[in-house]
Amino acid sequence: MFSVGIVGTGSYVPEKVITNVDLEKMVDTNDEWISSRTGIRERHMAPKDIPVSELCYQAGLRAIEDAQIAPEEVDLVIVATMTPDYAFPATACLVAARLGTKNAAAFDLETACTGFIYAAAAASQFVATGMYKTVLVIGGETMSKILNWEDRSTCILFGDGAGAAVLQPVKEGFGFLSFELGSDGSGGKLLSQPAGGSQCPASLETVKNNLHTLQMEGRGVYKFAVRIIGDVTLKVLEKVGLRRDEVDLFIPHQANIRIIDAAVKRLGISPHKVIINLYKYGNMSAASIPVALDESFKEGRISEGDTIVMVGFGAGLTWGACVLRWTKAGLKND
Ligand code: ACO
Repeated sequence: MFSVGIVGTGSYVPEKVITNVDLEKMVDTNDEWISSRTGIRERHMAPKDIPVSELCYQAGLRAIEDAQIAPEEVDLVIVATMTPDYAFPATACLVAARLGTKNAAAFDLETACTGFIYAAAAASQFVATGMYKTVLVIGGETMSKILNWEDRSTCILFGDGAGAAVLQPVKEGFGFLSFELGSDGSGGKLLSQPAGGSQCPASLETVKNNLHTLQMEGRGVYKFAVRIIGDVTLKVLEKVGLRRDEVDLFIPHQANIRIIDAAVKRLGISPHKVIINLYKYGNMSAASIPVALDESFKEGRISEGDTIVMVGFGAGLTWGACVLRWTKAGLKND
């Protein structure tokens, strides 16, 4: 089995920014409520005619450039998203066509906000076994397109964006050291988009009742999130025999500052090791972790050999974590 690491990263958010003050003009809310309850101050929003595949393409392109590879070298493209361009064809196929990764297989993976962790886990199996050498993993969302812009309890929370990573074999002892994934479908109703699938096909009635938009039971998700971040982090560290104080950088899914603060306090991880960018992006679901990883690297917060823990949780319910020992040096052994 090969060791598998991230040899290139990229991210992209649409230009348009919606501040909390902008939201005050749309729903009965205010900057003070949003900032103090969530930590979010602004988020980016894709124009009406820009689908998630465009955001994924931009992030993917940057990751390929960063990895210094040609698009033809990519063997597989995985897009993690809960806001695909279409039910089918898969967004990954559309993105692969635009990137010119003409030798690549492509598929979508949907585990909501845990999408990037699940996709990285899936991708790393292909590389570890030697079936593929180069996999492009993208987490991208256009959450703005599935929000009910009249529901103040949800529309203030989310943003649009995409983040990407190129996975390749790396030297032994580096790259992904462990993954821990989980799910509990009994909590599916806490967070869902009820209509538009085979359970409740689209009709005039479903549109009239706003059933194509995100519905959430916020308090239930909150409690689940605080518990699961702690549990899954301890499990993934235990798998490789690492202590909490050996973590150099902790990248949690960026849903709510209060969730992160409570979970980090419970774990006893030093706050200066925790990456927070939700104040400028909101919750970008599957994009939040890869965007935070890309920014952390480009801001010089990650060095060779650093131990990074990334933790996601979301609709499903799903959760996942990984331990990554950082190196960007892929093995050049074609
Ligand atoms: N502005 C002003 N008031 C508001 C707003 C708003 N935007 N939204 C809700 N309120 C009001 C409510 O109506 C309620 O009023 P009431 O007491 O008169 O009934 C009051 O504020 C308190 O509402 P709560 O829902 O109890 O507020 P809470 O402190 O729980 O915060 C929040 C709500 C921010 C949604 C929180 O529950 C949360 O972060 N939950 C987790 C959400 C999450 O992480 N979701 C994403 C998961 S990842 C994925 O898969 C997509």
